Amino acid sequence: MGEIVAIVSGKGGVGKTTLCAFLATALALQDKKVVCIDCDTGLNNLDIALGLEEKTIFDLSDVLSERTPLHKALVTHNRYRNLSMIPAAADFRAHIEEKKLRELCKKLAQSCDYVLLDCPAGLGEGFASAVYAADRALVVATPDITAIRDAGRAAALIVGMHPIPVQLIINRMRPAFVKKGYFENVDNIMDEIGLPLLGIIPEDEKVMVCANTRRSIFEEKKASAADALVRIAWRLCGKQMPLSPLWRKKKF
Ligand SMILES: Nc1ncnc2c1ncn2[C@@H]1O[C@H](COP(=O)(O)OP(=O)(O)OP(=O)(O)O)[C@@H](O)[C@H]1O
Ligand SMILES: [Mg+2]
Repeated sequence: MGEIVAIVSGKGGVGKTTLCAFLATALALQDKKVVCIDCDTGLNNLDIALGLEEKTIFDLSDVLSERTPLHKALVTHNRYRNLSMIPAAADFRAHIEEKKLRELCKKLAQSCDYVLLDCPAGLGEGFASAVYAADRALVVATPDITAIRDAGRAAALIVGMHPIPVQLIINRMRPAFVKKGYFENVDNIMDEIGLPLLGIIPEDEKVMVCANTRRSIFEEKKASAADALVRIAWRLCGKQMPLSPLWRKKKF
């Protein structure tokens, strides 16, 4: 049975979709079978992050309402054959029914290693449905004060509504900003949000290059974000992996 992982944040634009796409790719590169579900109804863009928008026809609402069989809505990646996704409905009025999403995730988890749920910003219906469906939640925060506060609220809400492991991913970290006192250090961010750390992804302009050229970060040379994502994928799988870039000496 695979694990269902909700990727949430509270605040928008902190990198949930980017993390979902790249983490799914990192897991696929480690021979895991992964399905990503875009739960961001109306503002769907996981298909773009995975470079799959040309291939999407059906969406999550088609599957949940049983208009379309699951296999027709699953879009398989061209390069990573063990990675597939279900897009979100482009119509913002489409409703994600909590119970049906959970049933779908459970069904998918029977034949794959990870089901990753890319959640919308905020703490509304999409967030609640994904958390309810999940076995584990990853809260994404940038080191900005507003993102830290919102991540703390999201974390507290999850702990109150559904007893699952919750871990923190700090995205767009800039060590130089910490040194200058513009950003809190990692320990303080963890304390404020109140969660254990799964990983830190540095600010990396190659992420933006990939986002706009539909390339995978793992095809970029010397991408520091790719290093970090591989380590996060290993840690998600329960392997011990230091936060520092020592992993480079290892092959996967
Ligand atoms: N580590 C990073 N370094 C540089 N840019 C990044 C990094 N992570 C994400 N970004 C950029 O931040 C922007 C927002 O990312 P993304 O769309 O993944 O956020 P989101 O949390 O999914 O947003 P929303 O809440 O609207 O769904 C994108 O332009 C993306 O390329
Ligand atoms: Mg998003």
